[in-house]
Amino acid sequence: MRLPMMVAGAFALTSFLLIAACGESDTSDGRGGAESASQPIERPDTPPEFASRTNPFSGDAEAIEKGRELYAASCAQCHGDSGRGDGINAASLDPPVTDFTDDDFKDVSSQYIFWRITEGSMMEPFRSMRSGMTPFGSLYDEEDRWRMVSYIESLRGD
Ligand code: HEC
Repeated sequence: MRLPMMVAGAFALTSFLLIAACGESDTSDGRGGAESASQPIERPDTPPEFASRTNPFSGDAEAIEKGRELYAASCAQCHGDSGRGDGINAASLDPPVTDFTDDDFKDVSSQYIFWRITEGSMMEPFRSMRSGMTPFGSLYDEEDRWRMVSYIESLRGD
């Protein structure tokens, strides 16, 4: 009488372990999915008509100071006073506001920054994501947009 009971018990234990093992592999699949969803947004290539421009104020301290004033008036509300993406309107925005001091922003070109200030989120993938980045091309002339580029570049640690 005793032996069949033990066999049944061993079988039950084996089944339990098998089910537990399957459960574990489900969990790790789920985690993998969450990781890929939190990857930073891939930046599109700068279109040729923007990629061919050069900042007339590169390294000019006066331009950086003027750029700082323009930034404080129009950008700090979202991007934050020191560019960390923590302005008063930032919390509600999805996709989140870029932190200009982040390592991930270090290698972004002046031309890309100028393009994004000019056209905001009018291009893909930002348009479909309903990004809150405003186009400023009709609000600021080219020189003022370059001054803001210079200011943003002065915020990163390069
Ligand atoms: C209403 C909120 C808001 C305002 C105002 C705003 N931005 Fe943005 N900006 C965003 C958000 C959100 C993103 C990130 C999503 C994206 O790239 O579109 C962004 C992205 C950017 C980028 C691209 C960064 C990257 O990661 O590639 C630049 C450059 C930029 N903003 C500059 C500015 C400047 C300069 C101003 C002011 C003239 C400004 N923004 C005003 C919300 C804002």
